[in-house]
Amino acid sequence: HSSHYIINHGISEELLEKVMAVGLEFFRLPPEEKAKLYSDEPSKKIRLSTSFNVRKETVHNWRDYLRLHCHPLEEFVPDWPSNPETFKEIISTYCCEVRLLGLRLLGAISLGLGLEEDYIENVLGEQEQHMAVNYYPRCPKPDLTYGLPKHTDPNALTILLMDPHVSGLQVLKDGAQWIAVDPRPNALVVNLGDQLQALSNGAYKSVWHRAVVNAARERLSVASFLCPCNSAVIGPVAKLVGDGDEPVYRSYTYDEYYKKFWSRNLDQDHCLELFTGQK
Ligand code: OGA
Ligand code: NI
Repeated sequence: HSSHYIINHGISEELLEKVMAVGLEFFRLPPEEKAKLYSDEPSKKIRLSTSFNVRKETVHNWRDYLRLHCHPLEEFVPDWPSNPETFKEIISTYCCEVRLLGLRLLGAISLGLGLEEDYIENVLGEQEQHMAVNYYPRCPKPDLTYGLPKHTDPNALTILLMDPHVSGLQVLKDGAQWIAVDPRPNALVVNLGDQLQALSNGAYKSVWHRAVVNAARERLSVASFLCPCNSAVIGPVAKLVGDGDEPVYRSYTYDEYYKKFWSRNLDQDHCLELFTGQK
């Protein structure tokens, strides 16, 4: 399954701790302070929301999240929360470091596919970067709900910083078995998203994952999403389609994909299935 721990990521343990601490501090603010940021409109560049996709789902999930656009920083940081006071500085620093890490990983993935190191980065264009600070409160009936339902990430690559003390993330192995991805000291988790599956013509799979909740402890995670620029044209790289074969996926812009992802019905299968075949 395409979910991996990375240890030698070069981001200091101290910074990771600060990110987790300030994230938790944010969710501990009084509800009336946080309510100013509430929105369920997915296109907003900063918003506090709840569950997964409140406009589409019939069953809600046990999660609150703060979603931020993070690149270019100068454009978005002014609108970020200034309470807690250290939020902007700590999260900006982390965003820069995590972006560099993500770009390095995309380089390694390109090489791994037999492409030039900067191939995928070039295809994805000036990538956006989004962050979800996920807060899963203690849940009195954890077997009746999820923190996040089964999904794949619609973007290219996700780097996840997880609560070091509380488990919750699970990934689907071989389409059949849910495996816990428990926190490891100082490790980040990397999940491949739908766009790498499309570009690689299915050689890499975006990972099905979900988050479970528990009655004893709250849990925090910080997901950083590298996203193709909206106008990027995504489709299987010609070199990765076997001789005489048809590409599995058609070409589309990321803008088209992202809109489809958030507007489709959630009981549908993999969003990429809607982009198969020629066009
Ligand atoms: C996400 C996600 C998992 C987690 O934010 O897309 O999958 O463990 N988070 O919080
Ligand atoms: Ni996810």
